[in-house]
Amino acid sequence: MRPSLVCGLAVLALAACSQNAEAPASDEAATDTPPAPAPAPRPEMTPEQRAVVLAGLPAPYNAGDLENGRRTFARCRSCHTLAEGGQNMTGPNLWGVFGRRAGSVEGFRYSDALHAADFTWDAEHLDGWLTAPRDFLPGNRMAFAGVPDETERRDLIAYLKVETGYAPE
Ligand code: HEC
Repeated sequence: MRPSLVCGLAVLALAACSQNAEAPASDEAATDTPPAPAPAPRPEMTPEQRAVVLAGLPAPYNAGDLENGRRTFARCRSCHTLAEGGQNMTGPNLWGVFGRRAGSVEGFRYSDALHAADFTWDAEHLDGWLTAPRDFLPGNRMAFAGVPDETERRDLIAYLKVETGYAPE
């Protein structure tokens, strides 16, 4: 039997499902397991470097409060990593999310709704998603009510841009 078939049948036999021994431990079904620390392929940015990236963001995000964004991201942290090469947890790794097609992180099993979504993440889409994920894309699997406060969303999106390798076009 082909390994993929075995995997399809034995969803719980996680270890056996790794077709590629080098692949990072898998995403799906690992919802309760605390993740191992993500690799840190690039050095932490200094506060000065962060300030430079922030200043270069398009308005209104260049006026974002990164510290408030970091605090707001505490609501996401249990499900998402940000760093390059960070693991998929309950939600996909968010490195490089800006400019990436929705539902396209390799190895993450999305809902049909997100998988079929036909747009690329930018600040506007993210703002809508984060306001009310359920209304923005009905049928998605992100169990999160939303960030109703506009300033918090601005700060969070600015923080995400700085932390996920966003580069202005
Ligand atoms: C309870 C876990 C959980 C929390 C909390 C959570 N997310 Fe998610 N997130 C998910 C899951 C699961 C998905 C995939 C949803 C799907 O497939 O429908 C997702 C998807 C996403 C996506 C789309 C990624 C892609 O590749 O298309 C973004 C962006 C995102 N989340 C950002 C956030 C942010 C920012 C927060 C905090 C404000 C947050 N999420 C809070 C679980 C979570």
